[in-house]
Amino acid sequence: MTQANTDKFRLVVLLSGRGSNFAALKERIDKDRLPIEIALVVSDRTDAPGLARAKEWGLQTALVTRRAKELSSADFNRELAERVCAAKPDLVVLAGFMRILTPEFISPLRGKIINIHPSLLPAFRGLHAQQQALDAGVKFSGCTVHVALEELDAGPILGQAVVPVMPDDTEESLSERILVEEHKLLPAMVAAIARGEIRIQCRSDDAVAVEYGSSKR
Ligand code: GRF
Repeated sequence: MTQANTDKFRLVVLLSGRGSNFAALKERIDKDRLPIEIALVVSDRTDAPGLARAKEWGLQTALVTRRAKELSSADFNRELAERVCAAKPDLVVLAGFMRILTPEFISPLRGKIINIHPSLLPAFRGLHAQQQALDAGVKFSGCTVHVALEELDAGPILGQAVVPVMPDDTEESLSERILVEEHKLLPAMVAAIARGEIRIQCRSDDAVAVEYGSSKR
């Protein structure tokens, strides 16, 4: 069992798949000795390679599934929120988490959840963002880190990175080029939030505001 270090900024990572963004984040935390603790890694899929990696690295993990759809989406989100809140996160990172998040999850964690999406939002929300970019014929695409709220891929944008779209790109080649940038952008955003250089403030009307500037921590 990993001992909680209360001095450190506490992260919870949610993933459903290979977890390359999670791995990039962990690598940056370790390499730069950032005062950030990955307190918990949660997956909704038993077979997620990212979950296996987290276990190999000795991190605390949790599996929350829909149990072959026995759980309603609301109950799944409620259970997920309970597991995540119990880890007392300062920040929750959606790193390829493929479930729709409902108010049961968002409300108790409002302003603490960020997501990485493989397009320059607000363009190309939802699934297959890279193919959507190819279909639209854009000459540049990229990735976005944003605050996750109830509306999918629509919360305030925290940071973006741009890549060119080449004439012979396929969904795979464009995805690979974007992923290289995702692996830099996500750790940079998490580090900036942990340092207090990006501050996400909850307002009384349930909206969130983002402030940038020197650290107050
Ligand atoms: C990434 O492309 C991310 O932008 C999207 O899901 C993918 C996750 O990839 N939300 P990985 O599991 O981090 O490798």
